[in-house]
Amino acid sequence: MKVATTDFGRRILRPTGALELMTDLGEASIPVPGRTAHMLGGGNPARIPAVEDAYRRRLREIAEDDAQFGRFAATYSAPGGDRSFRGGVAEMLARKYGWPLTERNVALTCGSQTAFTVLFNLFAGECADGSRRRILFPLAPEYIGYADVGLSDDMLVAQRADIEELPGGFFKYHVRFEGLDRIPDVGAICVSRPTNPSGNVLTLGELERLDALARARAVPFIIDAAYGYPFPGIQFEEPGLIWNDNVVLCLSLSKLGLPATRTGIVVANEDVIEALTAFNATASLAPVSTGAVIVDPLLRSGELERICDESIRPYYAERSREAVAWLQDAFRDLPLRIHRPEGAFFLWLWFPGLPITSAELYRRLKARGVFVLSGHHFFPGLEDDWRHRHECIRLNYSQARESVAAGVKVIAEEVGRAKR
Ligand SMILES: Cc1ncc(COP(=O)(O)O)c(C=O)c1O
Repeated sequence: MKVATTDFGRRILRPTGALELMTDLGEASIPVPGRTAHMLGGGNPARIPAVEDAYRRRLREIAEDDAQFGRFAATYSAPGGDRSFRGGVAEMLARKYGWPLTERNVALTCGSQTAFTVLFNLFAGECADGSRRRILFPLAPEYIGYADVGLSDDMLVAQRADIEELPGGFFKYHVRFEGLDRIPDVGAICVSRPTNPSGNVLTLGELERLDALARARAVPFIIDAAYGYPFPGIQFEEPGLIWNDNVVLCLSLSKLGLPATRTGIVVANEDVIEALTAFNATASLAPVSTGAVIVDPLLRSGELERICDESIRPYYAERSREAVAWLQDAFRDLPLRIHRPEGAFFLWLWFPGLPITSAELYRRLKARGVFVLSGHHFFPGLEDDWRHRHECIRLNYSQARESVAAGVKVIAEEVGRAKR
Protein backbone atom coordinates (compact mmCIF):
# COMPACT_ATOMS: atom_id res chain seq x y z
CA MET A 1 0.00 0.00 0.00
CA LYS A 2 1.32 3.43 -0.88
CA VAL A 3 1.20 5.71 2.14
CA ALA A 4 2.49 8.84 0.43
CA THR A 5 -0.62 9.65 -1.56
CA THR A 6 -2.30 11.91 0.97
CA ASP A 7 -0.99 15.42 1.75
CA PHE A 8 -0.22 14.24 5.27
CA GLY A 9 1.60 11.11 4.03
CA ARG A 10 3.73 13.13 1.60
CA ARG A 11 4.56 15.68 4.25
CA ILE A 12 5.56 13.18 6.90
CA LEU A 13 7.74 11.17 4.45
CA ARG A 14 9.77 14.14 3.17
CA PRO A 15 13.50 13.84 3.88
CA THR A 16 13.94 16.23 6.81
CA GLY A 17 16.89 17.25 8.92
CA ALA A 18 15.29 15.73 12.02
CA LEU A 19 14.78 12.42 10.21
CA GLU A 20 18.42 12.42 9.04
CA LEU A 21 19.59 13.22 12.56
CA MET A 22 17.54 10.53 14.27
CA THR A 23 18.45 7.97 11.55
CA ASP A 24 22.15 8.76 12.10
CA LEU A 25 21.66 8.19 15.83
CA GLY A 26 20.33 4.73 15.08
CA GLU A 27 23.01 4.00 12.45
CA ALA A 28 25.93 5.10 14.62
CA SER A 29 24.83 2.69 17.33
CA ILE A 30 25.18 -0.35 14.95
CA PRO A 31 28.77 -1.64 14.91
CA VAL A 32 30.46 -1.68 11.47
CA PRO A 33 33.56 -3.93 11.23
CA GLY A 34 36.70 -1.82 10.93
CA ARG A 35 34.94 1.42 11.79
CA THR A 36 34.76 3.19 15.13
CA ALA A 37 31.78 5.51 15.16
CA HIS A 38 32.19 8.88 16.86
CA MET A 39 28.73 10.20 17.60
CA LEU A 40 29.08 13.96 17.78
CA GLY A 41 25.80 14.53 16.01
CA GLY A 42 22.55 14.06 17.88
CA GLY A 43 21.10 15.77 20.89
CA ASN A 44 21.67 13.10 23.50
CA PRO A 45 22.75 14.48 26.86
CA ALA A 46 25.71 13.04 28.76
CA ARG A 47 25.17 10.23 31.25
CA ILE A 48 26.43 11.76 34.49
CA PRO A 49 26.69 9.18 37.30
CA ALA A 50 25.90 11.59 40.16
CA VAL A 51 22.75 12.68 38.35
CA GLU A 52 21.64 9.17 37.44
CA ASP A 53 22.12 8.12 41.09
CA ALA A 54 19.21 10.38 42.04
CA TYR A 55 16.96 8.95 39.31
CA ARG A 56 17.85 5.37 40.21
CA ARG A 57 17.02 6.10 43.86
CA ARG A 58 13.69 7.53 42.78
CA LEU A 59 12.94 4.41 40.69
CA ARG A 60 13.50 2.23 43.75
CA GLU A 61 11.17 4.45 45.80
CA ILE A 62 8.52 4.30 43.07
CA ALA A 63 8.75 0.50 42.85
CA GLU A 64 8.12 0.24 46.59
CA ASP A 65 5.25 2.74 46.78
CA ASP A 66 1.84 1.73 45.47
CA ALA A 67 0.52 5.26 44.92
CA GLN A 68 3.63 6.44 43.10
CA PHE A 69 3.76 3.28 40.98
CA GLY A 70 0.15 3.90 40.01
CA ARG A 71 0.99 7.39 38.73
CA PHE A 72 4.21 6.17 37.11
CA ALA A 73 2.85 3.32 35.01
CA ALA A 74 -0.57 2.00 35.93
CA THR A 75 -2.97 4.88 35.18
CA TYR A 76 -3.54 7.47 32.48
CA SER A 77 -2.80 10.94 33.79
CA ALA A 78 -5.11 13.90 33.24
CA PRO A 79 -4.82 14.99 29.57
CA GLY A 80 -2.78 18.02 30.67
CA GLY A 81 -0.29 15.70 32.41
CA ASP A 82 0.46 14.51 35.96
CA ARG A 83 -1.27 17.06 38.19
CA SER A 84 1.08 16.90 41.13
CA PHE A 85 4.11 17.58 38.93
CA ARG A 86 2.36 20.42 37.11
CA GLY A 87 1.57 21.98 40.47
CA GLY A 88 5.18 21.47 41.55
CA VAL A 89 6.48 23.22 38.43
CA ALA A 90 4.11 26.17 38.97
CA GLU A 91 5.12 26.49 42.64
CA MET A 92 8.83 26.31 41.88
CA LEU A 93 8.58 28.98 39.19
CA ALA A 94 6.45 31.20 41.43
CA ARG A 95 8.98 30.83 44.26
CA LYS A 96 12.08 31.34 42.10
CA TYR A 97 10.88 34.11 39.77
CA GLY A 98 7.72 35.49 41.42
CA TRP A 99 5.51 34.64 38.42
CA PRO A 100 1.76 34.29 39.20
CA LEU A 101 1.30 30.64 38.17
CA THR A 102 -0.86 27.69 39.13
CA GLU A 103 -1.18 24.14 37.84
CA ARG A 104 -3.58 25.54 35.22
CA ASN A 105 -0.67 27.36 33.58
CA VAL A 106 1.27 24.14 33.02
CA ALA A 107 0.76 21.27 30.56
CA LEU A 108 2.91 18.27 29.80
CA THR A 109 3.49 16.89 26.30
CA CYS A 110 5.22 13.78 24.91
CA GLY A 111 8.55 15.59 24.68
CA SER A 112 8.74 19.29 23.96
CA GLN A 113 9.08 18.44 20.26
CA THR A 114 5.39 17.54 20.38
CA ALA A 115 4.65 20.89 22.02
CA PHE A 116 6.26 22.70 19.08
CA THR A 117 4.21 20.67 16.62
CA VAL A 118 1.05 21.84 18.37
CA LEU A 119 2.12 25.43 19.06
CA PHE A 120 3.39 26.14 15.55
CA ASN A 121 0.21 24.80 13.95
CA LEU A 122 -1.88 26.67 16.50
CA PHE A 123 -0.26 30.04 15.80
CA ALA A 124 0.69 29.69 12.12
CA GLY A 125 -0.80 28.35 8.90
CA GLU A 126 -4.05 29.15 7.22
CA CYS A 127 -6.59 31.17 9.26
CA ALA A 128 -10.37 31.09 9.12
CA ASP A 129 -10.45 34.47 7.33
CA GLY A 130 -8.20 33.16 4.52
CA SER A 131 -5.08 34.97 5.75
CA ARG A 132 -1.81 33.12 6.47
CA ARG A 133 0.42 33.36 9.52
CA ARG A 134 4.05 32.37 10.04
CA ILE A 135 6.36 31.63 12.95
CA LEU A 136 9.18 34.19 13.08
CA PHE A 137 12.67 33.11 14.21
CA PRO A 138 14.41 36.39 14.95
CA LEU A 139 17.85 34.81 15.23
CA ALA A 140 18.90 32.34 12.52
CA PRO A 141 20.59 29.83 12.89
CA GLU A 142 17.88 28.13 14.93
CA TYR A 143 16.93 24.63 16.04
CA ILE A 144 16.64 22.00 13.29
CA GLY A 145 13.62 20.44 15.00
CA TYR A 146 11.46 23.52 14.23
CA ALA A 147 11.91 23.08 10.48
CA ASP A 148 9.31 20.53 9.52
CA VAL A 149 6.60 20.40 12.16
CA GLY A 150 4.22 22.65 10.21
CA LEU A 151 1.31 20.90 8.55
CA SER A 152 1.27 23.35 5.65
CA ASP A 153 3.89 25.09 3.52
CA ASP A 154 5.52 28.46 4.14
CA MET A 155 4.84 28.52 7.87
CA LEU A 156 8.27 29.80 8.89
CA VAL A 157 10.25 32.99 8.41
CA ALA A 158 13.62 33.94 9.87
CA GLN A 159 15.97 36.87 10.23
CA ARG A 160 19.67 36.15 9.88
CA ALA A 161 21.84 36.96 12.89
CA ASP A 162 24.45 39.70 13.03
CA ILE A 163 27.92 38.30 13.65
CA GLU A 164 30.27 39.85 16.17
CA GLU A 165 33.85 38.61 15.79
CA LEU A 166 35.54 38.16 19.16
CA PRO A 167 39.20 37.74 20.14
CA GLY A 168 40.73 34.26 20.32
CA GLY A 169 38.94 32.82 17.27
CA PHE A 170 35.43 33.18 18.74
CA PHE A 171 32.32 34.92 17.44
CA LYS A 172 28.83 35.64 18.75
CA TYR A 173 25.43 36.07 17.13
CA HIS A 174 23.15 39.00 17.95
CA VAL A 175 19.55 39.67 16.97
CA ARG A 176 19.29 42.05 14.01
CA PHE A 177 16.33 44.13 15.17
CA GLU A 178 16.41 46.35 12.08
CA GLY A 179 13.34 45.48 9.97
CA LEU A 180 12.06 42.78 12.33
CA ASP A 181 8.85 44.71 12.99
CA ARG A 182 8.10 44.94 9.25
CA ILE A 183 8.17 41.21 8.47
CA PRO A 184 4.59 40.41 7.40
CA ASP A 185 2.15 37.66 8.47
CA VAL A 186 3.76 36.83 11.79
CA GLY A 187 1.68 34.57 14.09
CA ALA A 188 4.27 34.02 16.84
CA ILE A 189 7.91 34.78 17.61
CA CYS A 190 10.09 31.87 18.70
CA VAL A 191 13.61 31.53 20.10
CA SER A 192 15.59 28.77 21.73
CA ARG A 193 17.68 30.05 24.66
CA PRO A 194 20.39 28.76 24.93
CA THR A 195 20.16 28.41 21.16
CA ASN A 196 20.59 25.07 19.53
CA PRO A 197 22.88 24.91 17.47
CA SER A 198 25.13 27.83 18.42
CA GLY A 199 25.06 27.77 22.21
CA ASN A 200 24.22 31.48 22.06
CA VAL A 201 22.32 32.91 25.03
CA LEU A 202 20.13 35.87 24.11
CA THR A 203 20.75 38.70 26.55
CA LEU A 204 17.92 39.74 28.86
CA GLY A 205 17.81 43.01 26.90
CA GLU A 206 17.26 41.09 23.65
CA LEU A 207 14.55 38.95 25.31
CA GLU A 208 12.76 42.05 26.60
CA ARG A 209 12.87 43.75 23.19
CA LEU A 210 11.48 40.62 21.51
CA ASP A 211 8.78 40.40 24.17
CA ALA A 212 7.81 44.03 23.49
CA LEU A 213 7.79 43.36 19.75
CA ALA A 214 5.52 40.32 20.20
CA ARG A 215 3.07 42.30 22.33
CA ALA A 216 3.08 45.20 19.88
CA ARG A 217 2.12 42.73 17.14
CA ALA A 218 -0.35 40.93 19.46
CA VAL A 219 1.33 37.56 18.88
CA PRO A 220 2.74 35.09 21.44
CA PHE A 221 6.44 34.91 22.27
CA ILE A 222 7.68 31.29 22.51
CA ILE A 223 10.84 30.79 24.57
CA ASP A 224 12.35 27.31 24.33
CA ALA A 225 14.55 26.81 27.39
CA ALA A 226 15.23 23.09 26.82
CA TYR A 227 18.88 23.59 27.88
CA GLY A 228 18.52 26.60 30.11
CA TYR A 229 17.10 27.75 33.42
CA PRO A 230 15.32 26.73 35.56
CA PHE A 231 16.46 23.21 34.61
CA PRO A 232 18.80 21.70 33.43
CA GLY A 233 20.61 25.07 33.68
CA ILE A 234 23.26 24.31 31.05
CA GLN A 235 23.67 28.05 30.64
CA PHE A 236 26.89 29.85 31.48
CA GLU A 237 25.66 33.44 30.95
CA GLU A 238 22.67 35.63 31.85
CA PRO A 239 20.62 33.37 34.16
CA GLY A 240 17.57 35.71 34.15
CA LEU A 241 14.38 34.65 32.40
CA ILE A 242 11.06 36.32 31.62
CA TRP A 243 7.47 35.14 31.63
CA ASN A 244 4.13 36.90 31.30
CA ASP A 245 0.78 35.81 29.93
CA ASN A 246 1.97 36.48 26.37
CA VAL A 247 5.01 34.23 26.80
CA VAL A 248 4.87 30.49 26.10
CA LEU A 249 7.80 28.99 28.00
CA CYS A 250 8.81 25.49 26.87
CA LEU A 251 10.84 23.28 29.21
CA SER A 252 11.90 19.64 28.99
CA LEU A 253 13.26 16.86 31.16
CA SER A 254 15.39 15.56 28.26
CA LYS A 255 18.60 17.46 28.86
CA LEU A 256 18.43 16.61 32.56
CA GLY A 257 19.38 13.13 31.38
CA LEU A 258 15.86 11.75 30.87
CA PRO A 259 15.20 12.03 27.11
CA ALA A 260 13.60 8.59 26.88
CA THR A 261 10.85 9.63 29.31
CA ARG A 262 9.62 12.08 26.60
CA THR A 263 8.52 14.84 28.94
CA GLY A 264 7.90 18.33 27.62
CA ILE A 265 6.53 21.07 29.88
CA VAL A 266 4.72 24.16 28.63
CA VAL A 267 4.11 27.17 30.90
CA ALA A 268 1.60 29.57 29.39
CA ASN A 269 -1.72 31.35 29.79
CA GLU A 270 -4.74 29.11 30.35
CA ASP A 271 -5.99 29.32 26.74
CA VAL A 272 -2.76 27.87 25.39
CA ILE A 273 -2.73 25.18 28.09
CA GLU A 274 -6.32 24.28 27.18
CA ALA A 275 -5.32 23.83 23.51
CA LEU A 276 -2.38 21.58 24.41
CA THR A 277 -4.58 19.57 26.75
CA ALA A 278 -7.17 19.06 24.02
CA PHE A 279 -4.45 17.94 21.60
CA ASN A 280 -3.08 15.43 24.13
CA ALA A 281 -6.51 13.97 24.73
CA THR A 282 -7.21 13.57 21.02
CA ALA A 283 -3.79 12.53 19.73
CA SER A 284 -2.55 10.38 22.60
CA LEU A 285 -5.21 10.34 25.38
CA ALA A 286 -2.62 11.49 27.90
CA PRO A 287 1.07 12.43 27.91
CA VAL A 288 3.75 10.25 29.52
CA SER A 289 3.96 10.42 33.34
CA THR A 290 7.15 8.49 34.07
CA GLY A 291 9.52 11.46 33.98
CA ALA A 292 7.12 13.63 35.95
CA VAL A 293 6.81 11.07 38.74
CA ILE A 294 10.60 10.54 38.91
CA VAL A 295 11.34 14.26 39.12
CA ASP A 296 8.36 15.58 41.16
CA PRO A 297 9.83 15.19 44.68
CA LEU A 298 13.31 16.23 43.49
CA LEU A 299 11.82 19.45 42.18
CA ARG A 300 9.80 20.12 45.33
CA SER A 301 12.65 19.45 47.76
CA GLY A 302 15.19 21.62 45.92
CA GLU A 303 17.37 18.58 45.15
CA LEU A 304 16.90 19.09 41.42
CA GLU A 305 18.21 22.65 41.61
CA ARG A 306 21.22 21.38 43.54
CA ILE A 307 21.85 18.68 40.93
CA CYS A 308 21.75 21.32 38.19
CA ASP A 309 24.06 23.71 40.06
CA GLU A 310 26.53 21.19 41.45
CA SER A 311 26.60 18.38 38.88
CA ILE A 312 25.10 19.28 35.52
CA ARG A 313 26.31 22.82 34.78
CA PRO A 314 29.89 22.28 36.02
CA TYR A 315 30.11 19.02 34.06
CA TYR A 316 29.19 20.64 30.76
CA ALA A 317 31.27 23.76 31.42
CA GLU A 318 34.34 21.56 31.87
CA ARG A 319 33.55 19.41 28.82
CA SER A 320 33.06 22.56 26.73
CA ARG A 321 36.43 24.05 27.79
CA GLU A 322 38.13 20.77 27.02
CA ALA A 323 36.57 20.41 23.54
CA VAL A 324 37.44 24.02 22.68
CA ALA A 325 41.09 23.34 23.64
CA TRP A 326 41.19 20.21 21.43
CA LEU A 327 39.73 22.16 18.52
CA GLN A 328 42.13 25.07 18.91
CA ASP A 329 45.00 22.62 18.93
CA ALA A 330 43.80 20.64 15.90
CA PHE A 331 43.02 23.78 13.86
CA ARG A 332 46.21 25.74 14.62
CA ASP A 333 46.94 26.18 10.90
CA LEU A 334 43.37 26.17 9.60
CA PRO A 335 40.67 28.85 9.61
CA LEU A 336 38.14 28.13 12.36
CA ARG A 337 35.79 30.34 14.35
CA ILE A 338 33.90 28.90 17.32
CA HIS A 339 30.66 30.46 18.53
CA ARG A 340 31.26 31.54 22.12
CA PRO A 341 29.92 28.61 24.17
CA GLU A 342 27.34 30.26 26.43
CA GLY A 343 25.06 27.27 26.98
CA ALA A 344 23.66 23.93 25.71
CA PHE A 345 26.20 21.23 24.86
CA PHE A 346 27.17 22.00 21.30
CA LEU A 347 30.06 23.76 19.67
CA TRP A 348 29.07 25.60 16.52
CA LEU A 349 32.02 25.66 14.20
CA TRP A 350 32.36 28.14 11.36
CA PHE A 351 34.95 27.53 8.63
CA PRO A 352 35.07 30.85 6.73
CA GLY A 353 35.75 30.30 3.03
CA LEU A 354 35.25 26.51 3.20
CA PRO A 355 35.56 25.40 -0.47
CA ILE A 356 33.01 22.57 -0.09
CA THR A 357 29.55 22.83 1.44
CA SER A 358 28.98 21.78 5.04
CA ALA A 359 26.65 19.07 3.65
CA GLU A 360 29.58 17.61 1.68
CA LEU A 361 31.84 17.90 4.73
CA TYR A 362 29.16 16.03 6.73
CA ARG A 363 29.16 13.22 4.14
CA ARG A 364 32.97 12.94 4.14
CA LEU A 365 33.04 12.84 7.94
CA LYS A 366 30.26 10.27 8.07
CA ALA A 367 32.24 8.04 5.67
CA ARG A 368 35.01 8.14 8.29
CA GLY A 369 32.63 7.30 11.12
CA VAL A 370 32.39 10.82 12.53
CA PHE A 371 28.78 11.92 12.88
CA VAL A 372 28.18 15.68 13.14
CA LEU A 373 25.33 17.82 11.86
CA SER A 374 25.67 19.93 8.76
CA GLY A 375 24.92 23.55 9.56
CA HIS A 376 22.62 24.11 6.58
CA HIS A 377 19.76 22.37 8.42
CA PHE A 378 19.71 25.08 11.08
CA PHE A 379 18.21 27.92 9.09
CA PRO A 380 14.49 27.09 9.05
CA GLY A 381 12.51 29.87 7.39
CA LEU A 382 15.54 31.79 6.09
CA GLU A 383 15.10 32.59 2.43
CA ASP A 384 18.19 34.57 1.46
CA ASP A 385 21.16 32.54 0.29
CA TRP A 386 23.63 33.37 3.02
CA ARG A 387 26.93 31.67 2.36
CA HIS A 388 27.45 31.30 6.12
CA ARG A 389 24.75 28.61 6.24
CA HIS A 390 27.00 26.29 4.19
CA GLU A 391 30.14 26.97 6.24
CA CYS A 392 29.17 25.65 9.69
CA ILE A 393 28.76 22.34 11.47
CA ARG A 394 27.40 21.48 14.91
CA LEU A 395 29.32 19.23 17.23
CA ASN A 396 27.86 17.64 20.36
CA TYR A 397 30.70 17.48 22.90
CA SER A 398 28.83 15.61 25.63
CA GLN A 399 29.63 12.03 24.63
CA ALA A 400 32.74 9.97 25.49
CA ARG A 401 35.90 12.09 25.76
CA GLU A 402 37.99 9.79 23.52
CA SER A 403 35.30 9.99 20.85
CA VAL A 404 35.15 13.78 20.91
CA ALA A 405 38.95 14.09 20.86
CA ALA A 406 39.27 11.59 17.99
CA GLY A 407 36.38 13.16 16.08
CA VAL A 408 37.94 16.64 16.34
CA LYS A 409 41.16 15.35 14.73
CA VAL A 410 39.25 13.82 11.82
CA ILE A 411 37.28 17.06 11.32
CA ALA A 412 40.53 19.03 11.12
CA GLU A 413 41.98 16.51 8.62
CA GLU A 414 38.92 16.72 6.37
CA VAL A 415 38.75 20.52 6.50
CA GLY A 416 42.48 20.63 5.70
CA ARG A 417 42.00 18.23 2.78
CA ALA A 418 39.09 20.29 1.42
CA LYS A 419 41.31 23.40 1.49
CA ARG A 420 43.99 21.88 -0.71
C1 LIG B 1 16.31 23.55 21.38
C2 LIG B 1 15.56 22.27 21.57
N1 LIG B 1 14.27 22.33 21.87
C3 LIG B 1 13.54 21.22 22.03
C4 LIG B 1 14.11 19.97 21.90
C5 LIG B 1 13.23 18.77 22.02
O1 LIG B 1 13.40 18.12 23.20
P1 LIG B 1 12.41 16.98 23.72
O2 LIG B 1 11.38 16.73 22.66
O3 LIG B 1 13.29 15.81 23.95
O4 LIG B 1 11.80 17.54 24.96
C6 LIG B 1 15.46 19.84 21.62
C7 LIG B 1 16.07 18.51 21.47
O5 LIG B 1 17.20 18.34 21.13
C8 LIG B 1 16.20 21.04 21.44
O6 LIG B 1 17.49 20.98 21.11
